[in-house]
Amino acid sequence: MSDILTVKDLEKTFGAVVAARDISVSVPAHQTVGIIGANGAGKTTFVNMITGHLAPSKGSIRFEGKDITGLPSRQITRLGISRSFQVAQVFPTMTVIENMRIAAAIARGRDSMLDRLLTPLDAAETASETDAALELFQIARYRDARAATLPQGVRKLLDIAMAIAGAPRLLLLDEPTSGISIEEKFDLMEVVMSALKTRKITVLFVEHDMDIVGRFADRVLAFYDGTVIADEKPEAVLANPQVQTLISGTQRAHLGANSGAVDV
Ligand SMILES: Nc1ncnc2c1ncn2[C@@H]1O[C@H](COP(=O)(O)OP(=O)(O)OP(=O)(O)O)[C@@H](O)[C@H]1O
Ligand SMILES: [Mg+2]
Repeated sequence: MSDILTVKDLEKTFGAVVAARDISVSVPAHQTVGIIGANGAGKTTFVNMITGHLAPSKGSIRFEGKDITGLPSRQITRLGISRSFQVAQVFPTMTVIENMRIAAAIARGRDSMLDRLLTPLDAAETASETDAALELFQIARYRDARAATLPQGVRKLLDIAMAIAGAPRLLLLDEPTSGISIEEKFDLMEVVMSALKTRKITVLFVEHDMDIVGRFADRVLAFYDGTVIADEKPEAVLANPQVQTLISGTQRAHLGANSGAVDV
């Protein structure tokens, strides 16, 4: 299997803060990679460098063999990498289907002409695409609901459905289950992961809940203090003493501190 993503010696500093250092990772196509680590470990910084939202201070990133280091995010999106953020990025006053149409239009490079989004030629194709995506993410019954009124889990699904409107080959999800109750998390991830599998998308997802990581990741990268301290199968990473001391312990402390809240 060929590698879709190759990261070498990646580093990011913010003044005196080293947010990422010595990160070297290769990801084969179609793998599902979980990213764990305590708050401030550098998970989002890593994601941001791959998607072009942050330029690395050092190191290189290759996507499908092409050097994308430091390219602007719009260009990286166009090359086939998409993402979601820790907070869902939907248009709250618009309906689900309107959000999907906008995502489809932006994916077609029409975001500079928002007032002329849907030419008649595009409309039919976009309609069938967006309806298929709503079915795939099991949110078709919310089609005409305004995004602001959606249950949190549905909003997350919409956000991810929008993120893959441009048919990316690589998707980065930054805490897709944040703000979702423990009871709903598994169902949400089940829908997301099976949708992404159907579309054959390689996934890197940041997740605090170890049970979710164990269930959905083929492989886990454990971040601590800006670097990867373990890169193995979920069972091996979760059993790794260093991970247990430096990450899992912190997680439990956070869970305790938030009295059961899951968005740690
Ligand atoms: N724009 C920035 N300017 C300065 N420091 C930053 C910036 N972004 C991140 N950092 C610092 O870099 C480190 C890594 O932050 P990052 O957001 O990547 O962590 P994280 O693992 O995603 O944490 P969380 O679980 O809370 O989302 C932290 O010390 C953070 O304070
Ligand atoms: Mg983060």
